[in-house]
Amino acid sequence: MIGGEEANDTSGAVHITPTPALCLSENEHSLRTMSVVRRLRLIYMVASSPQIHMAARAKKVRDKVVLAYSGGLDTSVAIRWLQQNYDLDVIAVSINVGQPGDLQEAVDRAMQIGAVQAYAFNATDDFVKDYVGPSLKANALYMGSYPLATAIARPLIAKIMVDIAKKEGAKYIAHGCTAKGNDQVRFDVSIAALAPDIKIIAPMREWVMTREDEIEYARQNDIPIKVKKECPYSTDENIWGRSCECGILEDAMEEPPRDAYEWTVDPSEAPDEPEYVDIHFRKGMPVGLNKTKRMAMTEIVKRLNDLGGKHGCGRVDHIEDRLVGIKSREIYECPAALILIDAHKDLEKLVLTKDTFSFKRSVEQRYSELCYDGLWFSPLREAMDAFIDKTQEFIDGTVRVKLYKGNAIVVGRSSPHSLYDTGLATYAEGDRFDHKSAEGFIYVWGLPLRSVAKAQKKK
Ligand code: ARG
Repeated sequence: MIGGEEANDTSGAVHITPTPALCLSENEHSLRTMSVVRRLRLIYMVASSPQIHMAARAKKVRDKVVLAYSGGLDTSVAIRWLQQNYDLDVIAVSINVGQPGDLQEAVDRAMQIGAVQAYAFNATDDFVKDYVGPSLKANALYMGSYPLATAIARPLIAKIMVDIAKKEGAKYIAHGCTAKGNDQVRFDVSIAALAPDIKIIAPMREWVMTREDEIEYARQNDIPIKVKKECPYSTDENIWGRSCECGILEDAMEEPPRDAYEWTVDPSEAPDEPEYVDIHFRKGMPVGLNKTKRMAMTEIVKRLNDLGGKHGCGRVDHIEDRLVGIKSREIYECPAALILIDAHKDLEKLVLTKDTFSFKRSVEQRYSELCYDGLWFSPLREAMDAFIDKTQEFIDGTVRVKLYKGNAIVVGRSSPHSLYDTGLATYAEGDRFDHKSAEGFIYVWGLPLRSVAKAQKKK
């Protein structure tokens, strides 16, 4: 049984409240969400279902595997597959990073299928604070387009899995990634960086099962699954964005059908009136919207996703270079990410010197590639974060964004540390620029080219 205090609720479920011993570390994401065992159902299962032999086998000491469990078909089938093929006790872990779906239901299903333990975490705030925040400060856009929602969630999920594996003494971690994607690399490399001795099992990389095969396997093995109407796309979602690929989208010339989008309206159907939003920043992080100067970043992101989605903002349709060498066509919806990155970058233009801004741009590109390529837990990322944090010291102020028919346009900005000086910029009265200096400056600036022109005449 899972450690902790039990509290019976009216549904008969036994909620296990984690004891302090279950906490991973004080300031880290603690096991703050419930691990739930429905005791009555378990007793029923042990007594009457084919799982009785497994309950008996559970007495034998087996090695443990911690499985990243979404509640979907692949990972549900994987629970039994890991038991049968590797003879392991499965600990299922479901993690919320702002995607829709019922974690409680996933946890229940994992226990029904035969997991010896199931955990659910709400890690959305940690995700926003420790992964989204730094990538916003880095204006991170892979290939200039993709705000890396999936890419930066993987290291957090890997970290939680490793923490649980250590706590549970598990030698293995399993995930449901396929052999053709980036996510397998991100998981495997992050796990290796945090716990080099843990072995990784990726059932989807090993088995060759179609969706139909999986459904048949589930039927034969009494695995309760919820077969949803088949979605024509492969999607992934978290608070920083939604991705959509496969199906008709594989034809790179084909405009994405309406059903590829879920977060955003078609810009042609967006309201006819523009909407303005003021975003307040402090040290490069968003801290408020409009009249509210203090808001949690998670709330700001949610609010901007809704607002942007309503105005058809935040759609990306691009060709992406995967780490495994494949080019793929990707659709994203990420209103908050694109609005915030644009606003943040605009404020930096107001506050940073020309040199810092332009040097930071090269760091940003490297940072984005590194996140995409699964190297979050690397010394280079930490060093780049240190540089970026230094640049954010004076990134305080407000940026005004106009949302209108698929566009999010920055239309105003101000900062107490602005380097913009109307006395220098103006062409009107009050001009303080020393016009006489221009000539001398241009003489010196152009001197090398004058020398080249004289000494190296081209024929
Ligand atoms: N192409 C994006 C990335 O590599 C999105 C991946 C989405 N993952 C998925 N399992 N559908 O980050």
